[in-house]
Amino acid sequence: MRPTTDTPPATPRQRLGGGTMFDGIAPRYDLLNRLTSLGLDTRWRGKLVASVADVQPRRILDLATGTGDVALALAKRYPQAQVTGIDPSRGMLERAEAKLARCSGGQRVRLLLGSAHALPLSDGECCAATIAFGIRNVPDRALGLAELTRVVRPGGLVSVLELGQPRGLLGSVARFHMHRVVPALGALLSSGAEYRYLSTSIAAFPQPEVFVELMREAGLVDVEAQPLTLGVVHLFRGRVPGGAS
Ligand SMILES: C[S@@+](CC[C@H](N)C(=O)[O-])C[C@H]1O[C@@H](n2cnc3c(N)ncnc32)[C@H](O)[C@@H]1O
Repeated sequence: MRPTTDTPPATPRQRLGGGTMFDGIAPRYDLLNRLTSLGLDTRWRGKLVASVADVQPRRILDLATGTGDVALALAKRYPQAQVTGIDPSRGMLERAEAKLARCSGGQRVRLLLGSAHALPLSDGECCAATIAFGIRNVPDRALGLAELTRVVRPGGLVSVLELGQPRGLLGSVARFHMHRVVPALGALLSSGAEYRYLSTSIAAFPQPEVFVELMREAGLVDVEAQPLTLGVVHLFRGRVPGGAS
C-alpha cells in the first residue's frame, strides 16, 4: 500500500466517518458486515461488480475499497483488468492487503492510501469506477462524484452501491434493524459509537432520486438507480459522456 498524502491528526468531527474511525473497526469489519446484512452484502457487491461489465473494463478504480472485497471481486470477474483500490484508512487497507495476498486475482490489485476528495489518478485513466457503502462517508459528496467522473474515460461507467431506508412498512423494519440491532451488534463485537454513527449516516443519506440528480450534476449521463432487496440498498450507475457507449 502506498501513502499518497501525509494526513494531519483527525479532529473528533472528522474522526466519525473518516479513515481513522475505520482504523478502529477494521479488525471486525468483515464479520460485522456479514452479520448485520444477514449475509446479503456479498450478493449486493456482486451486482455492483457486474454493473460495469458492458465496458469490458481493463483498468478499474474501487474507491473506499476498505478491506478489499469489491476490488478482489472485480479482479476475479475481469481477469484482463488491473484494479486500483483507494481508501483513507490504513487499518482497512492492511486487512485488504492480507486478503489480497492469499486470494487468486489479488496480485492484479494495487492499494493506495487516499481520499475521494483528491484522487491520485489522471483524467480518464480508468474504464470504470466503483464505490460500495463509501459515498455516504465522503464529506463533500459532489466533489467525490466529480473526482470519480474525472478519472473515468469518456464512455466509461461509474457505479455506486449504497444503503438507504426504504419507505413504508419495510422502512420501519429496516430502521429498527439499523438503529437497534446494528449498534447492539457493533457494541458487542466492535465499537458501539462507530456503529451508531454508521446507522445515523444511513438515515442522513439522500433519497435515491436526489442522489441520481447529484450524479447528473457531477457530469454523468444515462444515470439510473436500481433498488436491491426492496430498496434496502440502491445500485446507482452513470456513464461519462462521449466515447463509445
Ligand atoms: C463502510 S466501509 C465500505 C468498505 C468497502 N467498500 C466495502 O464494501 O465493504 C466505508 C469506507 O469508506 C472509507 N472512507 C471514509 N472516508 C472516505 C473518503 N473521504 N474518501 C474515500 N473513502 C473514504 C472508509 O475508510 C471505509 O473503508
